[in-house]
Amino acid sequence: MSVQVVAFVNHKGGVGKTTSVANIGAALGREGKRVLLVDLDPQAYLSSAVGIQVGEDAPSVYEVLTGVVAAEGATVAPSEFYDVLPSTLALSRLEVEFGAHAGRDLLLRRALELPREAYDWILIDCPPSLGMLMLNALAAATAYVVPVQTEYFALRGLGTLEEIIEQAHDYLNSALVPLGVLPTLYDGRKNQHSDTLAELKESYGELVLPSVRMNVALADAQKAGRDIFAFRANAHGAEDYAAVARELLVRAEGGA
Ligand SMILES: Nc1ncnc2c1ncn2[C@@H]1O[C@H](COP(=O)(O)OP(=O)(O)OP(=O)(O)O)[C@@H](O)[C@H]1O
Ligand SMILES: [Mg+2]
Repeated sequence: MSVQVVAFVNHKGGVGKTTSVANIGAALGREGKRVLLVDLDPQAYLSSAVGIQVGEDAPSVYEVLTGVVAAEGATVAPSEFYDVLPSTLALSRLEVEFGAHAGRDLLLRRALELPREAYDWILIDCPPSLGMLMLNALAAATAYVVPVQTEYFALRGLGTLEEIIEQAHDYLNSALVPLGVLPTLYDGRKNQHSDTLAELKESYGELVLPSVRMNVALADAQKAGRDIFAFRANAHGAEDYAAVARELLVRAEGGA
């Protein structure tokens, strides 16, 4: 099987991109897959969600994208189940520094050329914006997942996201395919949540992944810097993300 490189994208903030990357990655690792998580957000929430704080002189994804070090040189292993390419605030300089550079959207694709061989799954956490970092993720990816918070207006703005993904497909990466729409922060007791889930299924059909329920343990795990399986393996959040990971394995690998 060739590597799956999956970008988690939604320019809307707080929809569960980071939580999903951390916990789907942890679940895939526990299924025996070799997993790399890439933190492509200058806020570095994914890095802290898995307990990593990059020291002042240590390299991060910024040094990898700018060619100062190879990806292996900045990769850390906070768990036996996954590696992480962490981020720092330095990443926020990238867009200004590479503003008119012809290869600005292909920096991550180049940086991942070698590590691609060493992993089965590479999951990329994107910042909540439609800018250069998200385009880098879409250019490097084989597929993308859109986490969507199941509340009213969740679908608003998805049209714009789809247009940009289509442009990325046409101009940067013709191999890019959709892998799923992931309903997050779901509370089935609330009408607006079940309505939105129904709407998502109407619009995206089979692409809709199993829902991740609202579960405070997921937020607590993130604060504690651990994935949900290490933090509280019997939480709903662990059950839900394990189910999402199994479905992604079926979609990407035919269940292998
Ligand atoms: N299923 C869930 N149940 C409860 N809390 C959740 C759940 N998913 C995410 N959260 C919490 O909601 C907040 C937003 O989640 P997260 O950081 O994953 O979103 P994001 O899309 O990455 O946000 P941003 O766009 O700002 O990067 C976090 O505090 C997280 O711990
Ligand atoms: Mg995030």
